[in-house]
Amino acid sequence: MIYSRIAGTGHYAPEKVLTNADLEKIVDTSDEWIRTRSGIERRHIAEDNQTTTDLAEQACRAAMESAGVGPADIDFIVVGTTTPDLVFPNVGCLLQNRLGIHGCPAFSVETACSGFIYGLSIADKFIRSGEAKCALVVGAETLSRIVDWTDRATCVLFGDGAGAVVLKPDTEAGILSTHLRADGRYHELLTARSGVSVQPAGDALRDGYNVRMAGGEIFKVAVKSMGSIAEEALVANNIDKSEIDWIVPHQANIRIIQALSKRVDVSMDKVVLTLQEFGNTSAASIPMALDVAVRDGRIRRGQLLMFATFGGGLTWGSALLRY
Ligand code: UT7
Repeated sequence: MIYSRIAGTGHYAPEKVLTNADLEKIVDTSDEWIRTRSGIERRHIAEDNQTTTDLAEQACRAAMESAGVGPADIDFIVVGTTTPDLVFPNVGCLLQNRLGIHGCPAFSVETACSGFIYGLSIADKFIRSGEAKCALVVGAETLSRIVDWTDRATCVLFGDGAGAVVLKPDTEAGILSTHLRADGRYHELLTARSGVSVQPAGDALRDGYNVRMAGGEIFKVAVKSMGSIAEEALVANNIDKSEIDWIVPHQANIRIIQALSKRVDVSMDKVVLTLQEFGNTSAASIPMALDVAVRDGRIRRGQLLMFATFGGGLTWGSALLRY
């Protein structure tokens, strides 16, 4: 039996930091409100000339170095992003060129905050089938470009960043399972309507361009969907929750994560949190948190990890794996 296994991890956060105190000068908010309602203290923001591919490149270089692989080894690239540099070429291709890799499949998946888990699931299947031997799976975002900096309900939540893993085949697990879900009935709860095919005119374009969110409703759906998809993963693998060493959840809101921890009955000291530093970086949030906890020594080889995510679409998913 062939499994895919994470051989290396990397992340990159832009140098520019925007604190809650900085946001107090931009919108009618307070450090206290942001901390208590979301858990976020800072977020990193890309420079004007830094694109999603720039961020992804740094994360990939770090992941490749930690896996001990070079450009010639990579034969599959998938990038979860909802803020691509361009309509096309996709970020996978731009990244491939930047890293000096040529010829292998390279593409993006556009499932908002679930992009990394969707990408991980796809790459896992390519590795298991033998069609890929060394995959780069990336989550990268420049959300600051689509955030409405006049809307206090959303602009305080998001940040920019990238995370990446190198996946390789192994006879020992590895990724035990991935579960993906989507339900388009809820598409209006979380949107960024800057369209290509949809082209609202004039003020409607400005008005509808940026991130819009029904925060309270999303909150409820997030807790429910992440909880059920995490439980589904445990049942599918006949693994008890007590065996989980770390949950690495999508970093949207500390209260959502606390509710998830309660629901799956895994204590908060087994949950990796990076939202205080990075905010919600959408598809990048899980691989960034993973890399932080690997590099600071919390996550060690052989430990059992649960990833759980949700995002616009709505989309949600989980992965259960041995690191
Ligand atoms: O990756 C997926 C992306 N989406 C999410 O993760 C979002 C999920 N939802 C959430 O995280 C939370 O719903 C929020 C953090 C967005 C909001 O927290 P909440 O506890 O649901 O607050 P609320 O929206 O019910 O707003 C409470 C109050 C309102 O004032 P009134 O009507 O009670 O007077 C808001 O206008 O807080 C006000 N408010 C703010 N006040 C200060 C909303 N945003 C802010 C702000 N600063 N930034």
